[in-house]
Amino acid sequence: MFTDIGTIFAKKMEGTEVSLRGWAHRHRTSGKMVFVTMRDSTGIIQLAVKQDKVDEKSWKDANDTYVESSFMVKGNVVKDERAPGGYELQATNFELVSKGEPFPVAKDLSEEYLLDIRHLWLRSQKLTKILQIRSTVIAGIHEFFQKRGYTLFDPPIFTPNACEGGSTLFEVQYFDRKMYLTQSWQLYAEAAIFSLGKIYDVAPTFRAEKSKTSRHLAEFWMAEMEAPWMNLDDVVQVAKDEVKFLVEKVLEKHEEDLKFLGRDVEKLRKAISKPFPTVKYSEVLKILEEKEQMQVEWGKDLRTVEEERIMNHFETPIVVTHYPKEIMAFYKPVDPKNKKEALCFDMLAPEGFGEIVGGSQRSIDIKEIEEGLKKEGEKIEKYQWYLDLRKYGSVPHSGYGLGVERVVRWICGSDNIKDTIAFPRTMARFEP
Ligand code: 4AD
Ligand code: MG
Repeated sequence: MFTDIGTIFAKKMEGTEVSLRGWAHRHRTSGKMVFVTMRDSTGIIQLAVKQDKVDEKSWKDANDTYVESSFMVKGNVVKDERAPGGYELQATNFELVSKGEPFPVAKDLSEEYLLDIRHLWLRSQKLTKILQIRSTVIAGIHEFFQKRGYTLFDPPIFTPNACEGGSTLFEVQYFDRKMYLTQSWQLYAEAAIFSLGKIYDVAPTFRAEKSKTSRHLAEFWMAEMEAPWMNLDDVVQVAKDEVKFLVEKVLEKHEEDLKFLGRDVEKLRKAISKPFPTVKYSEVLKILEEKEQMQVEWGKDLRTVEEERIMNHFETPIVVTHYPKEIMAFYKPVDPKNKKEALCFDMLAPEGFGEIVGGSQRSIDIKEIEEGLKKEGEKIEKYQWYLDLRKYGSVPHSGYGLGVERVVRWICGSDNIKDTIAFPRTMARFEP
C-alpha cells in the first residue's frame, strides 16, 4: 500500500512505516548517507538512506539516482526539525523505477529556455502549485454556477462569425472553405438562453493577439455566463460574487501554496474584504485627471497604463461601466439615458493586474446591431441567424466572460500570464 507525501504531513504520521512513489527533486551523497528530496503531486519530503540500514541493491540504487529519476521507497517517518515540513523518512528500502538521464533543468536558466523545455519544467514546484490553483479556480467556477442553478452549455469551437472584431480572428481551413476559431461562446449562448435559461461554460478561446504583453495569450480559457431577463446591474453583481467566491476558494485551500509563490496573501484577503465599487468610465477619466494628472480624451479606450493608474486608488477589484458606445463591440447596446455610452462593463483587478472580466447587456435592437456590424466591416448576411434571435420572442439579456488565466495570474501574483497555463500559446511561443 502506497501513501502520498501530503498525507504524511496532514496525518502527522510520525513513527509509522510508509511506502512512497515519486521523483528525486534534489540528491546529495555524504559518505555513508544519501539524502534525497522526494516529490510527488502532493508535496516534498526529505529521505535519508543510510548504508547500514538498507540492503546492497537499495544502497546502489539510492546512489545512482539522478534528479528526476523515478523510484519507490519504504521507510519510517521521524520528526526532524531541520527537515522541510518537520519530518524525514529514514529509508529501509529504495528501488529505482527509471534512472533515466541527467536532467537538463538547473537553476538560473532563462525564461525562454524554461519555455523550450516546458514539458520538463512543468515538474517545478512553482508550476505545480500554479496549476493546482488553476484547477481549484475552474472547479470553483463550476461550483459557483451549478449552485445557482445555471446549466452548463458548450459552444462550437469552429465558427463562421467574429464576436470580438475581425483583427484577432484565427482563420482555419475547414474542408473547402474558411472558418475561424472561436473568440467567445457568447453569440451561441445568446441562442441557448431561450431554452436553457441561465447558462455558463469554461472553454478554450482563441485570439490572434499580435502584441507581446504579460496578459495576452493566443489560446486561453474563458468562463462565460449568459442569462435571460438580466440587465447590466444584475450581471455586474453576478461577476462580483463569482470573483469573490473564486478568491475565497483558493485562499481556503492554497494559502501555503500562495506563500510559496511569494504572493502577499494579506493583499488578496483585503481585495475581497469589502464590496467592489462600480465606477463609470467618465468618472474614471475624472479620477485619472484629478489624482494622476493624466488626460484621457473621452471616447478613447482605457489602455494598460490607465488601468494600472486607476487601480492606485483601489484595493479591491473595481467594475468600470458605460464605456463609449463608439468603441464597443456591435452587440453592446447604447444606454437610453445617454446615447454616447454603452451598457457594458469591465472588471479590473487591483495591483496593476488589469482587466479580468468583460461583459454587457445585449442589444436587442436589430437596427442598432446591423449598424454596429457594418461599422466593424462585417457582412450582415453572415449574422442573419444571430439577428433571428431578436425576431422570435426576444428578451432582455446579459452576460460576461472571465479570463481564467487573468484571474489565476492575479491570484498567484504571477509576473506573466504564461505561468498560468501548462503549454502557453502566443505569437512567438507555440512549442512544445
Ligand atoms: O473582454 P472580452 O473580449 O469579452 C468577450 O469576449 C465577451 N464576448 C464575453 C462575454 O460577454 N460573454 O474577453 C473577456 C475576458 C477578458 O476580460 C479577459 O479576462 C479575457 O477574457 N481575455 C484574455 N485572456 C488572455 N489572453 C487574451 N488574449 C484575452 N482576451 C480576453
Ligand atoms: Mg474586454
